Amino acid sequence: MPNGLRLSDATNVFVAGHRGLVGSAILRKLSQLGCNSLLLRTHAELDLRNSAAVDLFFRENRPEIVFLSAARVGGILANSRRPAEFLYDNLMIQTNVITMGVFTDATRVVVNIITYALSH
Ligand SMILES: NC(=O)c1ccc[n+]([C@@H]2O[C@H](COP(=O)([O-])OP(=O)(O)OC[C@H]3O[C@@H](n4cnc5c(N)ncnc54)[C@H](OP(=O)(O)O)[C@@H]3O)[C@@H](O)[C@H]2O)c1
Repeated sequence: MPNGLRLSDATNVFVAGHRGLVGSAILRKLSQLGCNSLLLRTHAELDLRNSAAVDLFFRENRPEIVFLSAARVGGILANSRRPAEFLYDNLMIQTNVITMGVFTDATRVVVNIITYALSH
């Protein structure tokens, strides 16, 4: 970790999308590493597409480290049927989380997201 920061010492580690496939695996690993200071919000509690809500959450909680594993994931068929919706949602999520991570001086934002590009 940067600046000799150990995950077990980090305060306020935000795992975005912690109930998903990737996020839940990150959560298990963090628990194994002894990281107890976790910030967890479901989609219903914090919609990461909503920039005002993300702004407020980051200013109130000041996460030190952010794992970005929240995404709208729907598989190849859903993606090909509604590509603009998937692209829009995922760009909003990434933009809001990365921007607020920078503005609030999070030590590190780990992005684990693949945005499907429009092919037509
Ligand atoms: N699965 C893989 O093998 C894999 C590998 C490499 C990269 N990735 C990438 O990692 C990302 C996550 O994939 P996944 O398979 O873990 O997806 P997933 O199981 O569908 O989980 C998605 C998570 O994102 C959250 N989420 C969705 N929309 C949200 C919103 N608007 N606001 C807040 N949270 C929201 C969901 O929250 P709720 O649970 O509260 O609904 C859920 O926890 C994707 O970009 C994917 O491409 C996945």
